[in-house]
Amino acid sequence: MSDPALLSEKIRAALAPCRLGEWPTPLEPAPALAAALGVAGLWLKREDRAATPGGGNKVRGLEFLLAGVPSGAVFVTAGGTGSTHCLCTAVHAGALGHRTVLAQFRQPDTVESRAVAAACARRAALIVHAPGPATLPLAVLSAWRHAGPLGARRWIPGGGAHPRAVVGQFLAGLELASQVAEPPDSIVLPLGTGGTAAGVALAVVALGWPTRVVGVRVAPAVVANRARTWWLAYRAGRLLAARGIRIPHLASRFPLSVVDGLGGGYGHPTPEGEAAGRLASEHGLTLDPTYGAKAFAHVMQRATRNVQRVVFWHTFAVP
Ligand SMILES: Cc1ncc(COP(=O)(O)O)c(C=O)c1O
Repeated sequence: MSDPALLSEKIRAALAPCRLGEWPTPLEPAPALAAALGVAGLWLKREDRAATPGGGNKVRGLEFLLAGVPSGAVFVTAGGTGSTHCLCTAVHAGALGHRTVLAQFRQPDTVESRAVAAACARRAALIVHAPGPATLPLAVLSAWRHAGPLGARRWIPGGGAHPRAVVGQFLAGLELASQVAEPPDSIVLPLGTGGTAAGVALAVVALGWPTRVVGVRVAPAVVANRARTWWLAYRAGRLLAARGIRIPHLASRFPLSVVDGLGGGYGHPTPEGEAAGRLASEHGLTLDPTYGAKAFAHVMQRATRNVQRVVFWHTFAVP
């Protein structure tokens, strides 16, 4: 492929994202944690440090989703009460002079979900609550209706899972190429609505790396699955191709493995996740129980099984 930095520049020039984050996010070696896990190398991709406030993996996508919208718009989006996608949208849309209306289902109460919910309540113009995920579509309709009088409405799918946002995550993957001496064996990340994994896996294909991307499924399979993630990556590739930017076709290889980390349900802490969170916090790393802890639990299990050089995608920014 062409030089990853040049390719990134070309993509930015073609799609004109806005600037919300500080790039590149750091890639930190974590030798003590690697030794505790029994792997040769562990690096932390600090997506949590993408922006202050409103950091986390969703900033990458929002740079593309919020770009070029005249100020005074109202973004409508959806997620759980602890959704950092909802929070990030409200924070960054607000900074650009827009408002946000949220449709949210109640998720299990944890320290982290409570902190995100409180921050959402401060930042959003309005929140319509659904009792659970099944009734979220009704809450979305109501949110859309209530947003009407506030300004020109724009819909962002739950989790920001849109091909334009996947292009932002693709840039994150390309960024990694300038930060590692050689490709890692695996990149481990939480798999929710799939946009983050789609972009990172697409970057691995474009870079021609042998790396495996491991998406630890933390949401129900109807949302978090390989087919949907492939489809998001495919559409991002098409979007780039339509602007004359060609990357390798996904037909032959899509290096994403999906493993189950869901436990009792979305947002429900698992014992494995709790153990992972405790170990990480002993090493100064704060993981959230919904995403990061469940994904890191997988790294702990894999450590015994022949995976030696791991990049862990650290996605959760403490609000
Ligand atoms: C902290 C955090 N990590 C990981 C994810 C998963 O990302 P994706 O929805 O792109 O799969 C999310 C999604 O909301 C998130 O908020």
